[in-house]
This record gives sequence, C-alpha cells and structure tokens, in this order.
Amino acid sequence: MAALIAPSILSADFANLERDLHAISTADYAHVDVMDNHFVPNLTLGLPVFERLAQVSPVPIDAHLMIEDPDRWAPAYAEAGAASVTFHAEAAAAPVRLARELRRLGSRAGVALRPATPVEPFLDLLAEVDMILVMTVEPGFGGQSFIDGTLPKIRRAREAVSESGLDVWIQVDGGVSRSTIERAADAGANVFVAGSAVYGAESVPGEIQALRELAEA
Ligand code: DX5
Ligand code: ZN
Repeated sequence: MAALIAPSILSADFANLERDLHAISTADYAHVDVMDNHFVPNLTLGLPVFERLAQVSPVPIDAHLMIEDPDRWAPAYAEAGAASVTFHAEAAAAPVRLARELRRLGSRAGVALRPATPVEPFLDLLAEVDMILVMTVEPGFGGQSFIDGTLPKIRRAREAVSESGLDVWIQVDGGVSRSTIERAADAGANVFVAGSAVYGAESVPGEIQALRELAEA
C-alpha cells in the first residue's frame, strides 16, 4: 500500500516554522498538533498561527486537534485551509455531526483514539470519516516510545475498513521511527506521523524517504 508520510512540526523550531515547513516539502502532509492545555497537559498553537501556517505551507496540512470541545472549534481549522482535520473521539460530543460539518467545509474528517480508547464503537461509523488516527503514544508530547499494545487496534481498524470497502485511511502518531514503522504498516496503517524522527534526523528529506520505503516494503 502507498504510504503517506506526515512529519509533525511539534518537533520543528517554533521560531522558524515557515522554514521548517519548507524542509518537509517532499512529505505528503504537514502534521500540525493543536493542544489546549486541557485535553492534554501541553499548549502549542491556535487558530491565528494555524491560519498563517496554512498560507505558507508547501504541503497540505493535517490538523490534529488535542482540544476540549472540538464540536465548537474544529470547523474553523477546516475553514482556515486544513486539508484534513482530526478531532479526538474522547472529546467530541457529537462526532458524526462534527465529521459531516468538516466534510461540508471541504476538509477530510478524522477521528483520533487515545491508546486506551477502543475502536469498536467507531467501526459502525466508518462511512462518516476519512481517517482513523490510532494514537501510538499518550497524546501531549513528542519523543515518547511507541506502544506496541496498540497494534491489535490498528489491525482491527484495518480489517473493518477492508470489509466495508470504504477508503478510510488509518493513521498512526507517536514514536514512529525507522525501528517501529514497519510494525505499524504490517498492522494496516497507511498514514505515518513522525516528529522527532524526522526533525531530529541529519537529513530531513532522507529520513522522509527512508520512512516511506520501510512502510511500503
Ligand atoms: C503527540 C503528537 C505527535 C507528536 C509525535 O501528542 O500528537 O504528533 O509530534 O512525536 P514523535 O514522532 O516524536 O513521537
Ligand atoms: Zn499529532
């Protein structure tokens, strides 16, 4: 399966975000982590900064909203030009209504699951979303190690997507590197977020290419 690589700018230099977006111009998406200090114990950036990133990015933006009340805030990220907006299942009051609204605004709609959140309740809603994000670390910080216990959930999601015949993407985020990406790909993921692995590499384009090749092997 073709692998899509989405470097996370959480590991970029926040004083040089435009430069660091251009550094990943060979990637498929730029993954932008929005954190509100409530849903997760960390704070990154909000709409005004996001709007500018969407204007200057050479690659489409994949927004990952780790925020409370995405029902209220997520549509603005679609309006700001995100190609994809992913909200957390644990935080959304009405996930189907929200996914429909995001699609109506022209964005792809994704639903994210923390490592301990089961995927089963969402398998009936596959037709309503474009992507399931299986978090492979607890959301909030870069540089954590990949949780192998999430692999069965990736497998279950892939099985359900295959059975449905729908083109729903399965994304993994957290601890993705040269040493873990093959396990995630084998389990059925096709979109790979990597922050510290990409921005910490000696060659950023080289790392994007290496990850892509490992995921597609
Ligand atoms: C963590 C974020 C990730 C983060 C991943 O909550 O959602 O996107 O940047 O960082 P790494 O790849 O370093 O684990
Ligand atoms: Zn993320």
